[in-house]
Amino acid sequence: RTVYLNGQYLPENEASVSIFDRGFLMADGVYEVTSVLGGKLIDFDGHAVRLQRSLDALDIRNPISVADLLEVHRELVRLNEIDEGMIYLQITRGAPGDRDFVFPDPETTEPTIVLFTQAKPGLADSPAAKIGMKVISIEDIRWGRRDIKTVQLLYPSMGKMMAKKAGADDAWMIEDGFVTEGTSNNAYIVKGNKIITRALSNDILHGITRAAVLRFAQEAQMEVEERNFTIEEAKAADEAFVTSASTFVMPVVEIDGVALGAGVPGRVAPRLREIYLEESL
Ligand code: PDD
Repeated sequence: RTVYLNGQYLPENEASVSIFDRGFLMADGVYEVTSVLGGKLIDFDGHAVRLQRSLDALDIRNPISVADLLEVHRELVRLNEIDEGMIYLQITRGAPGDRDFVFPDPETTEPTIVLFTQAKPGLADSPAAKIGMKVISIEDIRWGRRDIKTVQLLYPSMGKMMAKKAGADDAWMIEDGFVTEGTSNNAYIVKGNKIITRALSNDILHGITRAAVLRFAQEAQMEVEERNFTIEEAKAADEAFVTSASTFVMPVVEIDGVALGAGVPGRVAPRLREIYLEESL
């Protein structure tokens, strides 16, 4: 596989980063995941805007223009012959010579930028989307700036492991009784014809897929309500689903062992997945 590191295209085993990189030492960096369908980038512009927002929030200088970033994405898709899959992008504050809590001088420390591809054949036509996901609920103990897409992913990763151990596929996180989001996706419930999802704030990531799906839902005359919902309300809902760049729209059929509706994907989530894939291709 060919990867991109600081201006160069390299074979993956020749790409290396300093042990002093603050991404490695302090999770001082941000990332984006952009999906590829039919060799085409999905929602690149949205990801580029959110990337800049995350960098600004942490005062990390953006080492690349949006036009160059698009070119790198396209070149990696071409070089690695990606038809279905994703592109991972990470920018960290870089590698000063020492470990220090103080941010290094941006004049002397270059940010580190890495991009690589992951091929995922069958991503759009995923069998998992026909079965639906099982989720468990766990306490949301992450920090208070979940709107910044940092590489600090230990708790979401632990949450995913808790889900696996419980025989489920993912975890929904709960704060003050309300669902915030999934470990790596935004969470929704459906009651009748109404789609309910938490409103945007610092408590959740502002999903690029979320924005697109809510727009498509409204265009299809579905009702959307952005508000908090509890896990009890979710368990009593007709349907539930999650969205992300890596899963698009994925039905949720069970929460904490409680089946939603008939325990199979309902009407709304599969329809939204279909619309999302049609509009993206
Ligand atoms: N995760 N919430 C969290 C906590 C996420 O990590 C993600 C994305 C989302 C959905 O955002 P988007 O629709 O822009 O992908 C919501 C990516 C896919 C990941 O970490 O792999």
